Amino acid sequence: MTQTPANTADPIRRRLFIRTYGCQMNVYDSERMAELLRPLGYQTTDSPEDADMAILNTCHIRERASEKVYSELGRLRDIKRERALTGGEYVIAVAGCVAQAEGEEIVRRQPAVDIVVGPQAYHRLPEMLARARRGLDGAGRRGAGVLDTEFPAEPKFDHLPMPTTVTAGSAFLSIQEGCDKFCTFCVVPYTRGSEYSRPVLDIVAEARGLAAAGALELVLLGQNVNAWHGLAPDGSTWGLARLLRALAEIPGVPRLRYTTSHPRDMDDALIDAHRDLPTLMPYLHLPVQSGSDRVLDAMNRGHGRDLYLRLVDRLRAARPDIALSSDFIVGFPGESDADFDDTMNLVREVGFASAYSFAYSRRPGTPGAAMEQQVPDAVKDARLAALQSLLREQSTAFNETRAGAVAPVLFYERGRKPGQLIGKSPWLQSVYAEADKRLIGRMVDVRLLAGYANSLSGAIATGDHVSSREVAA
Ligand code: SAH
Ligand code: SF4
Ligand code: F3S
Repeated sequence: MTQTPANTADPIRRRLFIRTYGCQMNVYDSERMAELLRPLGYQTTDSPEDADMAILNTCHIRERASEKVYSELGRLRDIKRERALTGGEYVIAVAGCVAQAEGEEIVRRQPAVDIVVGPQAYHRLPEMLARARRGLDGAGRRGAGVLDTEFPAEPKFDHLPMPTTVTAGSAFLSIQEGCDKFCTFCVVPYTRGSEYSRPVLDIVAEARGLAAAGALELVLLGQNVNAWHGLAPDGSTWGLARLLRALAEIPGVPRLRYTTSHPRDMDDALIDAHRDLPTLMPYLHLPVQSGSDRVLDAMNRGHGRDLYLRLVDRLRAARPDIALSSDFIVGFPGESDADFDDTMNLVREVGFASAYSFAYSRRPGTPGAAMEQQVPDAVKDARLAALQSLLREQSTAFNETRAGAVAPVLFYERGRKPGQLIGKSPWLQSVYAEADKRLIGRMVDVRLLAGYANSLSGAIATGDHVSSREVAA
């Protein structure tokens, strides 16, 4: 345990604990915050008790997600109190979408919090930390938490360090942030602000850096990733398909993915990219939320059921083995039994490889929260159970169809059982296989043995373990 007396001079080795909730964008941001604080002497630790600073990178998407934060803050406050008894320091920061949405309310509910920082202000974290350690708030007063939830004019990406390490072969790369679509259930446009697309050169430079650091897979991230339209070096604007074609040229990166897409932004060029680019993995997460036109309209999704079904047909024509995934919300205000049946029918018609489904959660400040005809919890729960049972049948069926095939699997961590690793197939299935832990971060041919609801079992197919660079060659 590293305990640092509050008055010791810099530089000192300190420990940083980060807990990440929510989407992959938060995972990416947590890594950027860790890299930003490293020059200040902070090394990451998995244990909040061993840390000198704790960051909760939070999610506001559903009520349960944001309430979790306050119970976790209670635990951190206890650590901070204990540390103070020995004259030690413990800085507590809240980042992410709860920070953005609730701001000062967080410090009111948990006064032990030193820093509240919104997703657009992470580059100012070192400065906020210095102020917090001197015990001063933004206005130079003593005692209160330091708060920054502005949307600064200059994009944070220009000030955040590039990633330098890749731990298990796969790397996230944020290319787009924010959302202008304002679905009536969703907090994201309020917490992440309006759509911003990073320029091509920045993305390519980051992708090359990640490839050099050992990334075999790049996962492009954005709240509306396929709405990305970035400035190209010649002054023109590229769409996502053009960007994918450029990234596919980077040597040593056999896998490209992107998430999360919106049906409205799924253009012909992007569908063609699925046909033409072998490095673009045969998997697409394309949330539909509901199969009822009436509900889609009330959700302000800007597309109907037919548009979604037509997209599915065109994607399958372009890439017949594509695995499709979606998000669903059941119990949106006004959703009738007939509307819910439409969702079940759509699911039957498409046949999903995997999916996430949620009971509608009323989020303060969104139009959905004020709508009449809120659906009772018991109805939501029953619909969710029926939908999840159907989706589970479909994911099991999809995984079973892959049994017997040999596919490249990128191993990324140890499995539950000793000697076992978990990796991802091209269709983003989790594959468990007995394999040496030195294969973490490598891509290996695996014979898929049996498919289950959420995973497949497999066995290494080749005698020689080949890295994906060799597989791709
Ligand atoms: N940008 C993505 C989704 C981001 S949020 C998109 O446009 O599809 C991830 C998922 O959380 C959503 O797809 C939705 O299914 C779910 N979600 C968002 N707000 C919700 C709410 N208020 N209640 C329940 N689920 C919600
Ligand atoms: Fe939320 Fe809709 Fe934007 Fe997705 S498109 S982030 S669901 S508002
Ligand atoms: Fe949650 Fe914010 Fe992501 S609300 S899902 S962490 S964009």
